Amino acid sequence: MVTIISGTNRPNSSTLKLAEYYKKRLLEKGLDVGLLPLTLLPANLIETDLYGKRSDEFQPIQDIITKTEKFLFGIPEYNGSFPGVLKTFIDACSFPESFYEKKAALVGVSSGKYGNIRGIDHFTGICHYMHLHVMSLKIHIAAINKEFDENDNLFKEDTVKFANEQMDKFILF
Ligand SMILES: Cc1cc2nc3c(=O)[nH]c(=O)nc-3n(C[C@H](O)[C@H](O)[C@H](O)COP(=O)(O)O)c2cc1C
Repeated sequence: MVTIISGTNRPNSSTLKLAEYYKKRLLEKGLDVGLLPLTLLPANLIETDLYGKRSDEFQPIQDIITKTEKFLFGIPEYNGSFPGVLKTFIDACSFPESFYEKKAALVGVSSGKYGNIRGIDHFTGICHYMHLHVMSLKIHIAAINKEFDENDNLFKEDTVKFANEQMDKFILF
């Protein structure tokens, strides 16, 4: 099973828009892929699912993560790194069946100039700690608010090209 994780619970996030674009394109390329936005996390996650507890609300999410062999994370830049809710989510997932010896591709997103280069580096370190093997081609999309057309598709030649290359490599990864 392959799952795209949109790494923020911010309503109407650009990262979710990008994750939906990736899902659409990957389905067109014949990959059976699901999408898990962190907006689906239980609101009381820090009380219910951290440190070995498991809630009825989180269990279906855990089931998806356990079944997934290959992840694609869309990760926005928040205060120069990845969102805290993404780390909280990782910490709430069961070990080792969630991420251990699985595979991941990473896409950084920002409204500023850098496309979350540092946050993707930080997150890569955590993936390696968890033995979650990261694909070497990572994409960084800066000024994300200028990247979508009226149908919420990427349209800039360079961005489309690099995203497409990453998707093709992800399918083979
Ligand atoms: C809490 C927070 C912190 C942010 N910090 C940064 C930042 O350090 N650098 C940056 O370029 N954009 C920053 N942004 C803007 C996001 O990169 C921008 O909202 C972009 O659309 C991706 O996030 P989104 O998926 O939530 O929309 C921040 C946004 C939030 C909500």
